[in-house]
Amino acid sequence: MLPVSPADGAAIARAAHLLAQGELVAFPTETVYGLGADASNPDAVARIFTAKGRPSNHPVIVHVARDADLSRWTTDLPPEAEQLIAAFWPGPLTLILTRAPQVPAAVAGGQDTIGLRCPAHPVAQALLEAFQGGQGGLAAPSANRFGHVSPTTAQHVIDEFGAPPAGPLAAVLDGGHCQVGIESTIVDLSRLATHGPVLLRPGQISAAQIAAVIGRLPAVPDVAAPRVSGSLDAHYAPTTPVALVDSSTLGATLQRLQARGLAFALISHSETFAAIHGMHLPADPDGYAHGLYASLREMDARHAAVIVVERPPQTAAWQGINDRLRRAAFDSAGVLERLLKAG
Ligand code: TXA
Ligand code: MG
Repeated sequence: MLPVSPADGAAIARAAHLLAQGELVAFPTETVYGLGADASNPDAVARIFTAKGRPSNHPVIVHVARDADLSRWTTDLPPEAEQLIAAFWPGPLTLILTRAPQVPAAVAGGQDTIGLRCPAHPVAQALLEAFQGGQGGLAAPSANRFGHVSPTTAQHVIDEFGAPPAGPLAAVLDGGHCQVGIESTIVDLSRLATHGPVLLRPGQISAAQIAAVIGRLPAVPDVAAPRVSGSLDAHYAPTTPVALVDSSTLGATLQRLQARGLAFALISHSETFAAIHGMHLPADPDGYAHGLYASLREMDARHAAVIVVERPPQTAAWQGINDRLRRAAFDSAGVLERLLKAG
């Protein structure tokens, strides 16, 4: 068995074998840990949905090796895709393309598109090279239960699903703490003729970086855009309610919580507040993203009345982070109102 192992050559070969048998294996990527299954095996893909408790009409990303032949997955690789692949793969960018007819519909949640990503993490690359001679695909959503915070360590995956062989996973490959820390940027190129490129999910690779490569800024999603479960209003959420509070009112808010005897956990990027209670994250977007999900999990474990998050800067460099925080804190105003209401 290979319950949880540091990812050496033997462990990777064993994991590739388990995947070929239709088992689920969690593996590290540079963004978050993925819950992997053979993308060409509909039964294996179905197990992902069962394990996550995810609705079956939500598509999953197919991960491919660096030199994979993409014509196995898509019938149409527009020049924009080739340019973005040359610029950002391997790396935290997912492209939505037209799905090749032989690709199981289950992996696309029944849509006629396919999400493709070539991850940069060396363990993910080694696993993809070992799986089906580097020409297979691993369907892998983030390795968390539906709606929860994504995992950025192997322990987070075990906290979600239990330690294999108990639970739905056959193995977890431990590749350390994910460097990026938030999920990949997703760009839809499947409807270029009618809608142009569309940014379905912001991430570390920014809209401006994409525009610099393809010559135009990706648009914001319209109602007909392919579904992205990460775009649901409530997602990436801990069990404890999360409230986003502006730096300017943070001190007063904390005082009011304290005055009512309410236990709170705090995530802040300014030294002043973090020194008092809770978790300090770096004030630069890359450092903040790297630590965000682990902080949310750690603060959740305190079972406070509320996790207060100091609102980060509202600038382009923070777009991916603000997107995740907005969904984690989907009822931000309501939470504080209920806790602090007079009476
Ligand atoms: O960084 C990431 O992208 C991580 C790591 C594991 O690679 N994966 C990840 O997967 O975040 P997941 O399933 O949690 O989110 C993938 C998003 C989903 O919201 C899904 O709806 C969208 O990608 N997606 C996947 N395939 C798609 C398709 N064919 N059409 C539209 N959206 C798609
Ligand atoms: Mg997810």
